[in-house]
Amino acid sequence: MTYAGLLQESYPELAPRVEDLFLLEGHQIERLPDRAPRRALAVVLHAHPGLFRFFVVRHPPSEAFLSALMADHEPGITRDVNECALALLWEIGDWIVYQRLPRLYDERVSFEPGLTAINDVAPVMGKVVIDAGAGTGQVAFAAAPVAKHVFAVEPVSTLRSYMRDKAKRHGVDNVFVMDGFLHDLPVPRGAAEVLLTRQAIGWDLDAELDEVERVLGPGGIALHLTGMPHRAGPDDSFHSTLVARGYEVGSYREGGTLKRRYWRQV
Ligand SMILES: C[S@@+](CC[C@H](N)C(=O)[O-])C[C@H]1O[C@@H](n2cnc3c(N)ncnc32)[C@H](O)[C@@H]1O
Repeated sequence: MTYAGLLQESYPELAPRVEDLFLLEGHQIERLPDRAPRRALAVVLHAHPGLFRFFVVRHPPSEAFLSALMADHEPGITRDVNECALALLWEIGDWIVYQRLPRLYDERVSFEPGLTAINDVAPVMGKVVIDAGAGTGQVAFAAAPVAKHVFAVEPVSTLRSYMRDKAKRHGVDNVFVMDGFLHDLPVPRGAAEVLLTRQAIGWDLDAELDEVERVLGPGGIALHLTGMPHRAGPDDSFHSTLVARGYEVGSYREGGTLKRRYWRQV
């Protein structure tokens, strides 16, 4: 099944619409060249010139790419525009879910293994922890009851607001929500003892792993819960990069299946 198909199945209540594209943030507009189906995006931009202007104001460097894309593709007829809009919207449906349905998203991504998937290789008791790419804070809030404190780093502003609200609702006072990226974490060198990610690594893997090493003090531990199936002998470049950089590979159980995790002590 395609990623867009999986999102349609998981979030039937989303009913995405073109206006949702005005919710995108600069860092997401920057990633449109990797994420958006090219012709669909061009047809939608031709049909909605205000959207082109919005994208360029939000992320000025995207102007060259978007202008060239529109020059390469003709405008579509009405039915085509509607089909292209839906194709585009579902392809980036995760971003729209983050903006419009953070509470539902939080419920659907519940982290049922909790500390059992973490503590045997990266004990968090009494530690300063970073949850990078924190989303709605599933990992951050699982670690918080035993950790000293948790920095929950997340680039999407709606999700940061959601986590701050969740901390208040649950009376959690040791989760600090921050803006940032895995390749650019907003903490000083050696500031953390454990760094955790769940389904949030690999946009720029080498730069991210350099940054993970920077923020962990000597003896600090990084653990990446990938959400990918744990198959014996994976040979993708993601796996080989992590292993070449000294990571151990193993499994954890989630949703009745074995998933792959990587960890290393710095
Ligand atoms: C699949 S979600 C996982 C969220 C959370 N870790 C969880 O387990 O529910 C990926 C998260 O990473 C965030 N993200 C996207 N690009 C990122 C980057 N370059 N650095 C850090 N986080 C990023 C997304 O906004 C999203 O919240």
